[in-house]
Amino acid sequence: MPKIAVCAGSFDPPTEGHLNIIRRALKLFDKVIVAVAVNSQKKSAFSTEERLALLKELFQGDKGVEVDSFEKKLLVEYARSKKAQVLLRGLRTIQDYEYEFQMALANKQIAPEIETVFMMTESPYSHISSSLTKEIVSLGGSGAGMLPPLVEKKLKEKFKKM
Ligand code: COA
Repeated sequence: MPKIAVCAGSFDPPTEGHLNIIRRALKLFDKVIVAVAVNSQKKSAFSTEERLALLKELFQGDKGVEVDSFEKKLLVEYARSKKAQVLLRGLRTIQDYEYEFQMALANKQIAPEIETVFMMTESPYSHISSSLTKEIVSLGGSGAGMLPPLVEKKLKEKFKKM
């Protein structure tokens, strides 16, 4: 049976940290499904379609990555529908731990057959978050090393239009 992991998140926007986790996970799983979790309550810079297009372009050379989205559904239900056995999460600092621990236990209670697997985010990326990169770029700073060049370009265009 192929080993399939779902890496779900807002990806608003995808950062170098996300890419790092997903590319490393490709060595462990046959397929990694990068799933944009649509949350209409969250104010986002990029629409779902824009995030999907960005992720597809970023991972076009990575065999084993599937880009998708889901809405109004539990993550574990989505994972079941994709026959995934694993929920993949990146851990950056100790601050992530409490939130991630709670989610992992809740998901385990709802779907005991699905495991959450954590990967430590590598040090050059452990301080990055999507919000932080948006703030830096919106104030004219450089996202180099934090955002893939394509994402930084699109983000700059977005803020110019705003
Ligand atoms: N590198 C860089 N940044 C990272 C990162 C990494 N490796 N891992 C996480 N982050 C950042 C993200 O950029 C994001 O930053 P932001 O808050 O500034 O936007 C932040 O960490 C949150 O990460 P994300 O993975 O996008 O989490 P989320 O809270 O937006 O989404 C879901 C989490 C989608 C997994 C969760 O809400 C979910 O499961 N939703 C479906 C409904 C459900 O099943 N609910 C019950 C859950 S128990």
